[in-house]
Amino acid sequence: MKEQATEARIKELIEKCLEIRKNAYAPYSGFAVGAVLVDHAGREFSGVNVENASFGLTVCAERNAVAAAVAGGMKQIKLLCVAADAPAPVTPCGACRQVIAEFADEDAVIIAANLDKNYKLYKVSDLLPEGFKLKP
Ligand code: THU
Repeated sequence: MKEQATEARIKELIEKCLEIRKNAYAPYSGFAVGAVLVDHAGREFSGVNVENASFGLTVCAERNAVAAAVAGGMKQIKLLCVAADAPAPVTPCGACRQVIAEFADEDAVIIAANLDKNYKLYKVSDLLPEGFKLKP
């Protein structure tokens, strides 16, 4: 199934990110993040950031969405939307970029958004040029 990043679809995914974001567990940073991933079959999986008193154990929303998707049988990411409360659309951190790249097909689209529903679209290669590959 070809997922089209139409304006309507993007807005819908941002809304879903903002809804799931309410479940973020971010008592330390106060920075709640929601992510929604759409796979090759059009299925959606979501994630929120989950922080921990041992700060380094925090896992970002995007990586939690990828983990949920893998458990659900996702093979390839078509779209991944992330949203948080920031002046400009929030882009995935470096660790998440590497994890997203593992599963993203070459025309996957990353939608970075904020609460005002401002957004920017990226290809994974824009976010992670020369990313690590075990077998390049
Ligand atoms: N965070 C995410 O969930 N995704 C990102 O792309 C950037 C950062 C989380 C991690 C931490 O819980 C909080 O935001 C502040 O860094």
